[in-house]
Amino acid sequence: MAKSSTYVCSVCGAAHKKWAGRCEACGEWNSITEEVALSAGPKGKTLGAVKGAKVQLSDLSAQDKPLERSLFGMDELDRVLGGGLVPASAILVGGDPGIGKSTLLLQAAGAFARKGKKVLYVSGEEAASQIRMRAGRLDLTDAPVQLAAETNLRDILTTLDAERPDLVVIDSIQTMWADHVGSAPGSVSQVRAAAHELTSFAKRRGISVVLVGHVTKDGQIAGPRVVEHMVDTVLYFEGERGHQFRILRAVKNRFGPADEIGVFEMTGGGLQQVTNPSALFLSERDKPTSGSVVFAGIEGTRPVLVEVQALVASSPLATPRRTVVGWDSGRLSMILAVLEARCGIGFGGMDVYLNIAGGIKISEPAADLAVAAALISARQDHALPNDSVVFGEISLSGALRPISQPENRLKEAEKLGFSSAYAPSRMKTIAKSGIDVHKVDDLAAFIEDCFGQLDS
Ligand code: TYD
Ligand code: MG
Repeated sequence: MAKSSTYVCSVCGAAHKKWAGRCEACGEWNSITEEVALSAGPKGKTLGAVKGAKVQLSDLSAQDKPLERSLFGMDELDRVLGGGLVPASAILVGGDPGIGKSTLLLQAAGAFARKGKKVLYVSGEEAASQIRMRAGRLDLTDAPVQLAAETNLRDILTTLDAERPDLVVIDSIQTMWADHVGSAPGSVSQVRAAAHELTSFAKRRGISVVLVGHVTKDGQIAGPRVVEHMVDTVLYFEGERGHQFRILRAVKNRFGPADEIGVFEMTGGGLQQVTNPSALFLSERDKPTSGSVVFAGIEGTRPVLVEVQALVASSPLATPRRTVVGWDSGRLSMILAVLEARCGIGFGGMDVYLNIAGGIKISEPAADLAVAAALISARQDHALPNDSVVFGEISLSGALRPISQPENRLKEAEKLGFSSAYAPSRMKTIAKSGIDVHKVDDLAAFIEDCFGQLDS
């Protein structure tokens, strides 16, 4: 086999012919490292020149056995996976260091083993005694999980072949070392090779595999994003420091809906499932406060109510501050611009802070109207009624666009004791509910309805 060098970006995984200070693919500086690649196959021949084997073809109409999923018995996890674990599937769980990935997966492994499945937990980061100590804290000492503290991939694959478990957890993919690749553990080619070997081996043997991956500051799985393409499902475990809530979010799922979330709370005895997240996210609200608005959102298939908080204060700075936590800052600028251009409500000379309470991140455009309401409420020091929820997407013209699943949002709001809602009028008829729905055409009409005439 001939050896050749390639230069690979450690952020995006792009390969380059020669070294450069900046990766052309992702724009990152100083991220390109030299890697020795092994070139296999008949030397110097193009693929077309040497015959391979003929590939087996089949019809689209061919009947496959329906997927038999196995439940972990942790509802929040099972739902995020799209209804349990698919046999021989590969799952990547990403998250910041210390967020609770190992805790989550040890609990999941324990729950799965208690249901009579064979589970192997391989840690490259902690000693078996440390994992046993954690298991004691999580009340899992009697769960029949097999532990291994190992980083050598060849040994791990041999063990998997001998043991044939139903599920193997690899914590973490960055610590694995494939000895046929000539670079250090954690490097792009090691992570890529280890993920490829593990997922393809597990698929051949019918073993489900969960890979844990650490995430870099800018939210990417450290090293290559290529791992994301190799697995069937990518889950992110996220949460704000200082908050005990943790959210498990599906960002890719070949076997179920993406964008589904599971909510957990980190306690002294491990992660507890939160079955009613709306009640939790709203638990600190008591009396009407200016700048606070409840948004009726949908996360995956589940309605979730969250509190949008805004603060507006006069700014001493030439360029006033725009600070956002839990929402998109570009979207905030857009809403400030629409408020100014279409409704004559300016925020020039004012600092604007926007926060989604509880440490959850929202990406739905349906939150636009709730954000606008919170901003105006803060600017005017005028609280919205405490029993109302708000949802609707704002277009650049200031009109309100219809959004999906209004009934589910209203049902959740009613369940939590809300009695009125502001929603876009151009929506298909909403079934009658116990909630009084104020339908509004555009942002100006909404402002007049909620806040009366404003001075600009
Ligand atoms: P861990 O699962 O080790 O995080 P990761 O694998 O993502 O790096 O979790 C570490 C944090 O969780 C640590 O700060 C302590 C906290 N923790 C609890 O609060 N309660 C518990 O029962 C456990 C096991 C951990
Ligand atoms: Mg860990």
